[in-house]
Amino acid sequence: MIASVLPTYNRAPLNFVKGEGSWLIEADGRRFLDLGAGIAVNALGHAHPALVQALTDQAQNLWHVSNLYQIPQQQALADKLVEHTFADTVFFTNSGTEACELAVKMARKYFYDKGQEQRVEILTFDGSFHGRSAAGISAAGSEKMTKGFGPVLPGFVHLTFGDMDGVTNAITDNTAAILIEPIQGEGGIRAVPDAELKALRALCDERGILLILDEVQCGVGRTGKLFAHEWAGITPDIMMVAKGIGGGFPLGAVLATEDAASGMTAGTHGSTYGGNPLGCAVGCAVMDHVTDPAFLDEVNRKAGLLRQKLEGLVGAHPEVFESVRGSGLMLGLKCKATNIDVVNAGYDNQVITVPAADNVIRLLPPLTLSDDDITQALLRLDQAATQIETA
Ligand SMILES: Cc1ncc(COP(=O)(O)O)c(C=O)c1O
Repeated sequence: MIASVLPTYNRAPLNFVKGEGSWLIEADGRRFLDLGAGIAVNALGHAHPALVQALTDQAQNLWHVSNLYQIPQQQALADKLVEHTFADTVFFTNSGTEACELAVKMARKYFYDKGQEQRVEILTFDGSFHGRSAAGISAAGSEKMTKGFGPVLPGFVHLTFGDMDGVTNAITDNTAAILIEPIQGEGGIRAVPDAELKALRALCDERGILLILDEVQCGVGRTGKLFAHEWAGITPDIMMVAKGIGGGFPLGAVLATEDAASGMTAGTHGSTYGGNPLGCAVGCAVMDHVTDPAFLDEVNRKAGLLRQKLEGLVGAHPEVFESVRGSGLMLGLKCKATNIDVVNAGYDNQVITVPAADNVIRLLPPLTLSDDDITQALLRLDQAATQIETA
C-alpha cells in the first residue's frame, strides 16, 4: 500500500520536534548539530527571537490579503532588496522553483517586447538545479530529473559547466539569456570562478543577452556577501532568490533591473500567496540582520575558522575525505568514502550534513553558528570519519 505521504523522498529515520539556534532536538531528546539548516534555509538558525517576533506580530494582525490590494510588508521588503542590491524591482514567490518560472518568462518577454520574439533560448549548465517544476527540470536538463515526465520544455540549451568556449559558441540569434548558479549547490558545491562570472557578464553585454543568476542556495549572506555574485564585482539582469530570505518561512523572489523587467506589465504574472504579509514580515527581519556589515563580517570570520578546521579534518582522514570546497558558509567536503555513508555516520554522531552530487557532503549551517558550534561540528565530523574508518 502506498504511504499516505507520496513517497518521493528518501527520508532519514529522524523526527525533529524543536529547533534552537544551530541545534535540532529529536523526539527522543537527542540534540543534533544542524549543519544543513534545511538546505540553506534557516539562515538565522532555528527559532531566532527576531523572526519569531516578526511572524507572531504579523499573525496577530493579518495573515493573508490578495495581491489585488496594497501589501505594506511586501513593499517594505522590496524596498530593502532594491536598496541593497543591483535590482530596481522585485516579484515575490513562495519558492525557488517559482522564481525560476518567472525568471525564464521575464527574459523571454523582454525580447518579445523588443520585437525579437525568436530569442527564447536559455543557456544552462550540467550539474545545475533550478527546481522541480516543468521549466525547472527542463532548465537543468538532467535525465535523473526529466526522465518519464514527458517532453521537456523546449528553449533550453544545456552546456558543460566551466566550458567558456562552449558558451560563446552556443549564443545565437535565438538566445535570450544565460542562467547559472554562482555556486552550484545540488551539483556538489561547484563554484564558478570570479573570472568566469566576469566573462559571462561581458559576453552577455557584448551579445545583447540577459544574465540570470540563481542565488536560491548561495544568496542571502551565505558566502559572506549579501549575494554571491558581489565577490566577482558583477551584477546580473535577473536574479532568483529563495531559501534564506525567509529564514524558514516559504518565501522567494525574482529581482531584476528596470530594463530586464520591462516586459512584465500588469496582468503578465501573478501568485495568490507570493508576497503575503507573513512571509514578507519575516523576510524584512531576515534582511535587517543579513544586511548588517557586522553580521557579514562575522559570517566571514566563522567561515574562515570552519574552513581551516575542515582542512585539518580532511588531512586527518584521507581515506574518508578528499578536499574542502566552496565559499563562506556554503562548504562542501568532497568524499573518498561514499557521501551517503558519511552523512549517515554524521547522524550516528548527531551532526546533520546534506549530500550533493559529485560525492560531496554539504555544510550549510545557520549563519548564526557560534564558535562553540564550530568546535562541536569538528568533534562530531571527526567521530563520524573515525566510525567509517573502523567499520
Ligand atoms: C539553486 C537552486 N535553485 C532552485 C531551487 C528550487 O527551490 P525550491 O525548492 O524552493 O523550489 C533550489 C532548491 O534546492 C536550488 O538550490
